[in-house]
Amino acid sequence: MNQVVRAVYWGALAMTCLVAVLLVRTYTFDDGSHLFAGSWEPGVQIDVSFSDQERRVLLEEFKDAIRIPTVSFSQTKANTTALQEFGDYIRKVFPAVHSSHLVHYEVIEKYSHLFTISGSNRALQPYMLLAHLDVVPATDEDWDVPPFSGEEVNGFIYGRGTVDDKHCLMGILQALEYLLQRGYEPRRSFYIGIGHDEEIQGLVGAKNIASTLQARGVSLSFLLDEGMMIFEDVISGIKKPTALIGTSEKGYIALALSVKTKPGHSSFPPPVTCIGILAEAVSRLERTPLPSMFGRGAELGTFEHLATQFSFPLNVVMTNLWLFSSLVSRILERKPATNALIRTTTALTMFESGIKTNVLPPSAKAIVNLRVHPAQTVKEVLHLVQSIVADERVKVEIEDAYNPIPSSSYSTDAFGFQTVKKTIKDIFPDVLVAPGLFIGASDSKHFQNLTKDIYRFAPVLFKPEDLSRFHGLNERISITGYEDVVKFYIHLIQNADADKLPGLHKQSHEL
Ligand SMILES: *[C@@H]1O[C@H](CO)[C@@H](O)[C@H](O)[C@H]1NC(C)=O
Ligand SMILES: *[C@@H]1O[C@H](CO)[C@@H](O)[C@H](O)[C@H]1NC(C)=O
Ligand SMILES: [Zn+2]
Repeated sequence: MNQVVRAVYWGALAMTCLVAVLLVRTYTFDDGSHLFAGSWEPGVQIDVSFSDQERRVLLEEFKDAIRIPTVSFSQTKANTTALQEFGDYIRKVFPAVHSSHLVHYEVIEKYSHLFTISGSNRALQPYMLLAHLDVVPATDEDWDVPPFSGEEVNGFIYGRGTVDDKHCLMGILQALEYLLQRGYEPRRSFYIGIGHDEEIQGLVGAKNIASTLQARGVSLSFLLDEGMMIFEDVISGIKKPTALIGTSEKGYIALALSVKTKPGHSSFPPPVTCIGILAEAVSRLERTPLPSMFGRGAELGTFEHLATQFSFPLNVVMTNLWLFSSLVSRILERKPATNALIRTTTALTMFESGIKTNVLPPSAKAIVNLRVHPAQTVKEVLHLVQSIVADERVKVEIEDAYNPIPSSSYSTDAFGFQTVKKTIKDIFPDVLVAPGLFIGASDSKHFQNLTKDIYRFAPVLFKPEDLSRFHGLNERISITGYEDVVKFYIHLIQNADADKLPGLHKQSHEL
């Protein structure tokens, strides 16, 4: 054979082998979906069947919770009248919770709440459910109905807090109320924490709930907070609704860039002023995205769990990330929402300079908000930013920062993850479940000393058009959606009573 023929021959053989490997991997890929053949013990003993009267009451109580304007206006300003009123409200509408000998109730820092529910088996490690009662501001302008009216329109309840986070808060307490009224006694102890300042970082509420528990020597099996949801038509290539349980959370940096130059009259200016120098620096940052970290954080778990659910040919790509990861990374970076999964993002959020039309500005300052991918640290990102700015005239200083929260386990023996997953499957049998990277921020970061296993998930369906409702206009939840939230927690509390996970059972694959 001459050399060309030989090369073609070997090339074709290599290609055939590669295609064979890709296809074998695609159709034998283990996504863990057939685990847990054993039954969940003791499982759900009290099943949910709301009477019409109970449904009416739980909806009215939810609407009334929306009507109390518990707004965190700014870092230092909140409606404390409303925060106080909210505390009075939950004490009134959940009588069983507040009178049960199994529940110990405390107010933390005036407006936050901590419930300790004693289980019968003290050998079981307790867990915690977390929610927050404050909301971001909203004005009547541009809403279809006033944001604090709790009005019902076409099967939806509208209002600020309906999906952030009063649905979880009321759902958790309503579930406990329901169970206690039916004589339920938990086996595993648990805590319910309700913070009052999550929207302004939880530095008083959640932080002090956590330190109260830490001082008592509490160590948690797992913690569940708000966060990701059940996404429908959000992940391209996946038809079924998919519940993503946030197992990791991005870090945060507010970075101040500043430049000082000599003030003077603008009629004889130097070649550049501080505005020009700083504008160039921030523009370089905007044009130079930080490197893709795809495959090195919780987002990898998402694709591994869902790989076989993608339609052809995406399933071949997703089950063979060893070969295609840079291709997938390039596809993900095209949309802002998926770009945020694969890298530390850079957002220029503030720029201040200048005092008068004819005066050279003495200083310019910009704020860059970076959200740190879990595969990087604040320090590493700072070095990268400095090397991109590469201008000694620009001073770079951290105003506020924290590192990404390490990933919680989503393995087959992770009790918290599997308990949440089992509960999702109880209430929403047709959804897929996978771990995910939460790109927002939640109160749960204050609880890192109490547990390694923090999960961020709220049991509601989310469609692409809902994205703008968060902290935006016409925030809403469907009536059946809210009932499902309550059912979810009724099941979760009972599922968490299991001593341990049921026996694992792996089917062997037949080719
Ligand atoms: C604060 O909340 C109370 C109800 O608790 C309400 O009457 C009042 O209008 C609210 N104030 C502001 C500024 O939103
Ligand atoms: C964890 O505990 C240490 C030691 O008590 C404390 O300094 C630190 O602030 C705690 N971290 C959090 C996130 O609360
Ligand atoms: Zn929230």
